Amino acid sequence: MPEDTLPAQPGRWLWTCRAGFEPHLFEELAWAGASPRMLGEVLVESEKRPTEPPVFARTGIRVLASFPTDQTPEQLAEAIAARTAEAAPAGSLVLQAFLPDSPAGNRLADEADALLEAVRARLPADRLLEETWRAREASATLVELCVAPGVVMVGSVPAREALSLAPGGRQRMRRSGDSPSRAAMKLEEALVSLPFEPGRGEVCVDLGAAPGGWTQRLVARGARVIAVDPAKLMPELARQPRVEHVQESAFSYAPEEPADWLFCDMAWRPLEVAQLLAKWGRRGWATHLVANIKLPIKDKNPILVRVRHILTQDGGWQGLTMRQLYHDRDEVTVTAHRGL
Ligand SMILES: C[S@@+](CC[C@H](N)C(=O)[O-])C[C@H]1O[C@@H](n2cnc3c(N)ncnc32)[C@H](O)[C@@H]1O
Repeated sequence: MPEDTLPAQPGRWLWTCRAGFEPHLFEELAWAGASPRMLGEVLVESEKRPTEPPVFARTGIRVLASFPTDQTPEQLAEAIAARTAEAAPAGSLVLQAFLPDSPAGNRLADEADALLEAVRARLPADRLLEETWRAREASATLVELCVAPGVVMVGSVPAREALSLAPGGRQRMRRSGDSPSRAAMKLEEALVSLPFEPGRGEVCVDLGAAPGGWTQRLVARGARVIAVDPAKLMPELARQPRVEHVQESAFSYAPEEPADWLFCDMAWRPLEVAQLLAKWGRRGWATHLVANIKLPIKDKNPILVRVRHILTQDGGWQGLTMRQLYHDRDEVTVTAHRGL
């Protein structure tokens, strides 16, 4: 790992990941023939964007320019605005700044805020789209400033192709006055990436449901939930009429009728979980899948290759996405569907 952050080269892709996962991201990019280079903590660049989005990347941008931070903030903002206007001369822009999610990176929050405002002031106001959630439908270009120790890197990506619309892929789900569990936030973040969500009257099976963060979020959406877990659910859920708690192992459970959604957050070995999910796919027991795969193992990528194969080839799951989301720790989230 280089001591200082190295500047990314224009034309290459800049990726950021969870701290400590750089080797896994690097390996994925190398396996995809994308010639990666480690730039510093949580930052990796690559020659090209792989066809399959890297699992361990929170977000990725095509680098427009890198600037050393030894110039005045005004000079820096001027140069960034000029390069942005040159690279994206028309259309809506969503301008964001992110910090590498490391102790050294997170100390730069004030600098990043000031720089973002200074660049924003130098771009035509009528091109700046404030409602980030509209970026895809507005065919906007996402322009991100990565404010790292000693260097500011600027890159862009069409919003429709972006891995995340949150700055640096840090999709925070916490709402004020709300204290969901981390598990619940993982589910909320996974659902943000889907074109639709489980709704009123739909049947969801939640494997590994206890203590019930996911089940609670699904019930709040109006769904009926079959929560499968030998462990106990939170008392308020156990009393919920739209929740049925099946207190047995997910490996022995079989649904009485097909479900709309299969959720799985079981703390169990990844390949065995993948085989269980493949069984659900083969037997047509659910239409949509959202699963969190635990990876407390050193060689994560080889296991993920096998998980992907089991789910798609043995299970027939389609449209598979596999990502380490912001709220995921040593785990990744998979979404897929069958025969839509
Ligand atoms: C990370 S917790 C799930 C948290 C849950 N999604 C929530 O939001 O509260 C993992 C759960 O997997 C369950 N589990 C482990 N092996 C299981 C099995 N064979 N069948 C069903 N559940 C299992 C554990 O009992 C544990 O409650």
